[in-house]
Amino acid sequence: MSKIDKNRIVGVLNRLLEAELAGVVRYTHYSFLVFGFGRIPIVSWLREQANESLLHAQQVGEWITTLGAYPSLVIGPLLDSHKYDVAAMLQESLEAEASALELYRKLLALVEGRFIALEEFARQMVHAEELHAAEVDKMLRKPGDLAPFSRRKPA
Ligand SMILES: [Fe+2]
Repeated sequence: MSKIDKNRIVGVLNRLLEAELAGVVRYTHYSFLVFGFGRIPIVSWLREQANESLLHAQQVGEWITTLGAYPSLVIGPLLDSHKYDVAAMLQESLEAEASALELYRKLLALVEGRFIALEEFARQMVHAEELHAAEVDKMLRKPGDLAPFSRRKPA
C-alpha cells in the first residue's frame, strides 16, 4: 500500500459516499411521487434502487474507515425539479448515476495494479453501475426502439 495516494483515494471515496447517499434520498423521494397504473412495480423498483444505493454507500464508507479516514456526512447534490413523470425521474437518475460511474472509474485508475482489494471493489462497482445505467436506458426507450437513449459510450 506504499505507492497509493491515500488522500486522493479517500477524496474520491468520500465523493462517492455523498453521491450514493444522495441516491438513497433521491430514489426514495421519487418513489412517493409515482401515480397511475404502473405505480406498484415502479415504486418497488425505485425502492430497490434506494436500497442498492444505501448498500453502496455502506461499502464505500467501510473502505474509508479501513483506510483510517473520516467518512463525509454530506449528502451529494439533489435537484428537486418537481417532476412527476417517470421518464423525467429516470433521466435525472441516469445523469446522477453517470457521475457516480465516473467517480468509480477514477477510483479504479487510482488503485489499479497497486491495491488489489480496492481495485476489485472499484471494478465490481463499475460493473454494477454500468448494468444499472443500461437498464435505465432501456426503460427510457420506446417499445421497439433499439437505439440507446443516451449517447454515452461505454468505455
Ligand atoms: Fe451505486
